Amino acid sequence: MRQRVLVTGASGQLAGAISAVFSRDADVTPLDRAALDITDDRAVNDAVAAHRPDVVVNCAACNDVDGAESDPLRALDVNAFAVRGLARASAAAGATLVHYSSDFVFDGTASRPYTEDDRPNPQGVYAASKLLGEWFAAEAGRALVLRVESLFGAPDGWAGRKGSLGTLIAGIDAGREVPVFIDRTVTPSYILDVAEATRALVASGTASGLYHCVNTGACSWHDIALEIARLLGKPADLRPITLESVTLPARRPRYCALDNARLRAAGISMPAWQDALARYLASGLA
Ligand SMILES: NC(=O)c1ccc[n+]([C@@H]2O[C@H](COP(=O)([O-])OP(=O)(O)OC[C@H]3O[C@@H](n4cnc5c(N)ncnc54)[C@H](OP(=O)(O)O)[C@@H]3O)[C@@H](O)[C@H]2O)c1
Repeated sequence: MRQRVLVTGASGQLAGAISAVFSRDADVTPLDRAALDITDDRAVNDAVAAHRPDVVVNCAACNDVDGAESDPLRALDVNAFAVRGLARASAAAGATLVHYSSDFVFDGTASRPYTEDDRPNPQGVYAASKLLGEWFAAEAGRALVLRVESLFGAPDGWAGRKGSLGTLIAGIDAGREVPVFIDRTVTPSYILDVAEATRALVASGTASGLYHCVNTGACSWHDIALEIARLLGKPADLRPITLESVTLPARRPRYCALDNARLRAAGISMPAWQDALARYLASGLA
């Protein structure tokens, strides 16, 4: 029998890929913020009761990292307390809850990719709200929490460039000078690969757990920019910047590459970030 999947935050970047991938063999109900505000516990209970999902995939989030420093309650409401409401509603309905967290839960002082066993140490309000969300998600009977980072991709193809990486692509493509961090190490995550891994993990029947879910490898934003320029066949006009050279309300972790140790152990492998970037750019050039 086809499973029923409820997707929250349905107009977001990752949600589009989740809906597309799960729709292959499940009945997906995508609900954007207007259809379901996840901070409204009663509305969440009503939506879960009405749709009787087997799986709730929570793609809703407040990702305004800097804004959260001056408006902590907004980030806490969406990224933490609302997750508790979704978890409780999922538990009552016997549904699996899939929830996404962030590399920002780490302080960035590591010198090798973080595994799920490394201790979080959030450095800002957004980061703390995402860690609380991980903990609240556990109230679901079966909760799969996936940490992603530096998401890229757009459900509507290359034209819908979003996020930091999307901005980088647009700048290099247009021949503009683009500022890039040379001292921030990340592992980018292609939304289609994250969606495929999510679907595989849900289908695996594995119990509740926390998983890192990023493409494979570690790179600076400067490395990513050079790879984009190479793939586009365009010269890169890059202005290297460092974390010390910019003043931002929220601290960014310097090193936050992630290791998908538990995903690998579950038999799910993620392609290298260069491979993912090449596929994404090829999808726009076709
Ligand atoms: N993007 C990244 O690089 C990144 C990095 C690490 C972790 N993550 C995590 O990955 C997940 C997916 O991120 P994303 O980049 O796809 O996010 P996104 O594009 O910012 O989408 C988030 C969606 O949530 C919706 N939303 C906000 N508040 C809501 C509420 N109260 N009720 C219902 N919907 C609400 C937003 O609606 P509006 O458009 O109306 O605001 C938006 O459509 C999130 O958990 C995020 O924290 C993302």
